[in-house]
Amino acid sequence: MDSFATVAELRAQVRAWKREGLRVGFVPTMGNLHAGHYSLIQLAREHAERVVASVFVNPTQFGPNEDFARYPRTLDADATGLAEHGCDGLFAPSVPEMYPFGTGHEVRVRVPGITDVLDGAHRPGHFDGVATVVARLFNMVQPDVAVFGQKDYQQLRVIEYLVRDLAFPIAIIPAPIARAADGLALSSRNQYLSATQRAVAPRIHETLLAMRADVQAGRGLPDIESDASARLNAAGFAVDYAAIHRADLTRPDADERTGLIALIAARLGSTRLIDNLRLD
Ligand code: PAJ
Repeated sequence: MDSFATVAELRAQVRAWKREGLRVGFVPTMGNLHAGHYSLIQLAREHAERVVASVFVNPTQFGPNEDFARYPRTLDADATGLAEHGCDGLFAPSVPEMYPFGTGHEVRVRVPGITDVLDGAHRPGHFDGVATVVARLFNMVQPDVAVFGQKDYQQLRVIEYLVRDLAFPIAIIPAPIARAADGLALSSRNQYLSATQRAVAPRIHETLLAMRADVQAGRGLPDIESDASARLNAAGFAVDYAAIHRADLTRPDADERTGLIALIAARLGSTRLIDNLRLD
């Protein structure tokens, strides 16, 4: 596997692959890679002859009181893992390579509407930072396909909107959520959890399953949402939201039953966990 720190080196390699008629798949990440990330590499492989992953902890998507400084940076281990999982290229740019005018002076991309709810409401500016860096990464890598995990469901919808609205010639492929045996969605943030918190964390997935059963049993959606929050609060979480939306993230009527998704964001101590489950 080749590693690139500059856009120029990366583009030279991608151009060479494309001249050979090879399709290029892309998996953007913030590093500290786990089996969830590697499943995205494998999925990209199924759609492209060459796969590039990026590792970049993007400062513009973290709020002032969030974990940018302590976000785990493990580039050497990530490079080894990517090579083992059949990745062809690793793009790991510096902050100045990504933001040549400096953060605070960058051209920003803002997706309207769907960024106002859920994580967009709880993390102001977060999705602007995500859209801003992903638009740059797409221009830098120029892939044919890009894979995003459904674990970050709202992010996936933001990227789909961005690609359609700015006419990027890139097919977006959603990847299923990779989970630990006890149901906890894999996340780089899980390692912040103490042993006690780690034992409680699977309650998020259990609550999503209970929400699905309640929807199938015909209960009203507002009741299901408030029960889910109460259940998580009782388990020791601080709940940002436990909500049922339509797949396009608009709000459903209380008696809607199809095309729904349950989404949870909840904190254990200072660690914020998110997860979701399609309800049909
Ligand atoms: P990061 O959190 O590193 O996630 C990179 C990709 O891996 C995302 O598409 C995310 O949805 C996916 N992913 C993470 N955990 C997963 C799991 N358990 N199962 C399936 N997919 C999983 O998301 C970001 O980075 C950033 O916002 C980024 C898009 C790179 C922009 O900076």
